Amino acid sequence: MALPELDNHDARIQYYELMLEGDITGMVEIPLPEGYFYAFYQDGDRDAWIEIEKSAKEFSSYEEGLDAWKRYYEAHESELYNRMVFVVNRLGEKVATATAFYDVRGIDQSGAGWLHWVAVKREEQGKGLSKPLISHVIQVMKQLGYSHGKVPTQTTTWLAVKVYLDLGFRPIEKNYIRCRDGWRIIKRLTNHPALSDLDAASDAEVLAWEKQPMTIDILTIFPEMFESVLNTSIIGRAREQGLITIEATDIRPFSGSKHKNTDDYPFGGGAGMLMMAQPIADCMKAVCEKRGVPCRDNTAANESPSPVKRIYLSPRGVPLTQKLAQELSKEEHLILLCGHYEGVDQRALDKYIDMEVSIGDYVLTGGELGAMVLSDCVARLIPGVLGSEESPQDESFSDAGLLEYPQYTRPREFEGMTVPEVLLNGDHAKIAAWRREQAIIATAQRRPDLLDSAKLNDKEKALADQYRTDNHDQ
Ligand code: ADE
Repeated sequence: MALPELDNHDARIQYYELMLEGDITGMVEIPLPEGYFYAFYQDGDRDAWIEIEKSAKEFSSYEEGLDAWKRYYEAHESELYNRMVFVVNRLGEKVATATAFYDVRGIDQSGAGWLHWVAVKREEQGKGLSKPLISHVIQVMKQLGYSHGKVPTQTTTWLAVKVYLDLGFRPIEKNYIRCRDGWRIIKRLTNHPALSDLDAASDAEVLAWEKQPMTIDILTIFPEMFESVLNTSIIGRAREQGLITIEATDIRPFSGSKHKNTDDYPFGGGAGMLMMAQPIADCMKAVCEKRGVPCRDNTAANESPSPVKRIYLSPRGVPLTQKLAQELSKEEHLILLCGHYEGVDQRALDKYIDMEVSIGDYVLTGGELGAMVLSDCVARLIPGVLGSEESPQDESFSDAGLLEYPQYTRPREFEGMTVPEVLLNGDHAKIAAWRREQAIIATAQRRPDLLDSAKLNDKEKALADQYRTDNHDQ
């Protein structure tokens, strides 16, 4: 697949949130082309701002723009008179804008100035306005007393990212590590020398593929157990954003018995009760019908293939690993069956289950906790579910097969303990080397069994041997 011609704000590019920063004290102003001048925000400029942002594809409608305005600027309007800049053309029309601001979420405590909502109207793009505008707003930032600047941006606005890199902004370290694939896309599109230590993304990796949101159906006799898990935090947000559909369906109403029983005694005797096949089979068929997918019968010959993977959570299953989670995250539709009592009638499993998964070598009272664990670790791997700050690439059990290195945040000193010096000097190469070394040491000490499949060079193997403790309880 070759790359088509891509413009700024191109939705065909895989989306990653990127963040750059830089010392702005030495950044110089670049003059505007003839016929344009700058104006600060004045009362009533809100609609001009929305118009520009909309024209530059930041928003798809006026309402969306208004909503962003309310979130970012409405409560800070008095500050806009000397922070929001417009480029005005010969006809007096406002055609581009950018704002010298701060982090409105209050999360960034570094005291850096933030470059906000840089946009050039569609018909004025390609006329050399963006670089002068950005360089001008940086001068505004300096006048406001900032010496350091940050820019939140995205892979989809790659032309703007190139401008920031040209002006001297660099990826912020955490984002560079966590969002490596996003920066590899920028490398492929700009080949910027500031990204020389990265390998460029392939053309296929640059382009976003059309993906249906994943569906996870959970069949359980305790659907209420899932309420808080599915509505909270990252999974709740992903559901709201339509990135994933997760729904728990109660098996009990499908029971054909008078009292809606779902269990019975095992033939041949033995302790406890078993879940009956009939309510499970009927619940499975109903969920498939609701989703418009065939409910395959595994015991029938020549059954047509189905896009659904049906999983029974059980201590007898294959162990859930990060690798399995990665594979499952590529499925279109999972149906998870939660067992209870002493198990499930084997015939329900033989007919309607494609795979059994265990979340560990211990026995739970039911499959619900297993289904939650599986849904959580699969959902977070679906593109877009985690924001760039939470990206899953650099963690324990990722491709490198190593445990994660130790991490530190503010303050620099806590109860007499300091942060390792190497993390404070901003040398990305040294930091990356230290982290790799720490990941190898942690893996050798805690999970030496993982080292066999980790990709280590000879020097790293020697380091691992030095720290290996092969007395780990399996
Ligand atoms: N149900 C009971 N124990 C389980 C386990 N260890 N993993 C998955 N499902 C279970």
